Amino acid sequence: LILGIDSSTQSTKALLVDADSGEVVEARAAAHPPGTEVDPRTWLSAVDEATDGLLERADAVAVAGQQHGMVTLDESGAPVRDALLWNDTRSADAAVELIEEMGGPQACADAIGSVLVASFTSAKLRWLRDHEPENAARVARVLLPHDYVSLHLGADGTEPFTDRGDASGTGYFATAAGEWRPDLLEQALGHGADLPRLVAPGRAAGTTRSGAAIAGGTGDNMGAALGMALEPGDVLVSIGTSGVASAISSVPVADGSGVVTGFADASGGFLPMVTTMNAAGILDLQARWLGVDHDELAALALQSAPGAGGVTFVPYYGGERTPNRPDAVGTWTGLTPATTRADLARAAYEALLCSLADAVDRLVAATGETPQRVLMVGGATKSAAVRELAPAVLGCPVVLPPPGEYVALGAARQAAWALAGTTEPPTWSAAETTVLEADPTPHVREVYADLRDRTESWTTHTATATE
Ligand code: XUL
Repeated sequence: LILGIDSSTQSTKALLVDADSGEVVEARAAAHPPGTEVDPRTWLSAVDEATDGLLERADAVAVAGQQHGMVTLDESGAPVRDALLWNDTRSADAAVELIEEMGGPQACADAIGSVLVASFTSAKLRWLRDHEPENAARVARVLLPHDYVSLHLGADGTEPFTDRGDASGTGYFATAAGEWRPDLLEQALGHGADLPRLVAPGRAAGTTRSGAAIAGGTGDNMGAALGMALEPGDVLVSIGTSGVASAISSVPVADGSGVVTGFADASGGFLPMVTTMNAAGILDLQARWLGVDHDELAALALQSAPGAGGVTFVPYYGGERTPNRPDAVGTWTGLTPATTRADLARAAYEALLCSLADAVDRLVAATGETPQRVLMVGGATKSAAVRELAPAVLGCPVVLPPPGEYVALGAARQAAWALAGTTEPPTWSAAETTVLEADPTPHVREVYADLRDRTESWTTHTATATE
């Protein structure tokens, strides 16, 4: 048996899995305190709770965790301060400052694979240097969230370790070369600090307190890719608070526009990723505006025709990242006396899917690989309207994997791989998928793209100015 752990922003999930079949034997979870700044020791009590009685039964263990978080330890190994998480944006200015010091966005992408944003660990270290110099001076070691949890599970005397996937989100890791850049850490923090040892994909880092093998672990997005057994040619679209399109690539990416973050994956390749800021929330807002629930919204939308009776919605109401328009506002056009509530409902689904299609396009442009399969995950895939419109708007069949804890499953697959000592991760029988197909509706995307481009300068500033 093997144990896969997902230490995420909101909770720790643990899956005890059969190493040969990949079947889940037992699943547990424990909640984390909310916030963007948390005491990292709370993850340790959560992992103890979620794995109690399971750890002893496992022959191998691995931890996947939320990416980017800054865990700073002093000489004695105690946290210097609370961890700053990926979703803590106080480090936005620090990211801009570091990009300039590195010679601009393209030079930054060439060095680390991505253009820094507030989420990256180095931006948080720079914030610490500037705002809490006494804390910064006490930092002897910097870890990522999953490294800190792995260290806790390790046998006495275990030295900290990590993997290249999670390391690629720090800002001081040369992703293409697979090497730490301690000079970039020093530049951010103001002095050097110890970094965890890098464990090769699918290799054991050591043993746990209970004597099981422990693998290097990885970031949650890399864990999900491993758990879904993504292969080159697959594009994974995830609809959550934000929309994410990611793909396995055999070559590194260095997108100076910053749209594609060029992460490494957990199996020796790369995981370029594009994120949109407005995704599931588009449907939540539209349901609220029309005074209906999600099922009613879907039913309404399906009464309208492709193109929503000429109504188009560009849904960047919360600002957007793909395309990069932090001050954008949402824009409706094509409203006439003939417009129905069904058209308004349909336009929201088309807007969500056109925006995700943009993310897929940017990913394909950066990797140069034409997708063979588009997989879609996230709560919104339960919606009848998303299911009907997704293949039509994206213009290709859409594969829906069954719901599951893919991050924890990916960690389990990594642990099974380390246990087997093989060159490739184990092949587990593929879960039964649903394939959605529909006639493509390219005109929907064309109208959207036209409006998206025409509204480029429509921001909260212009909205205020014209009020
Ligand atoms: C990726 C990112 C998030 C976290 C969530 O860049 O910041 O997806 O990994 O846990």
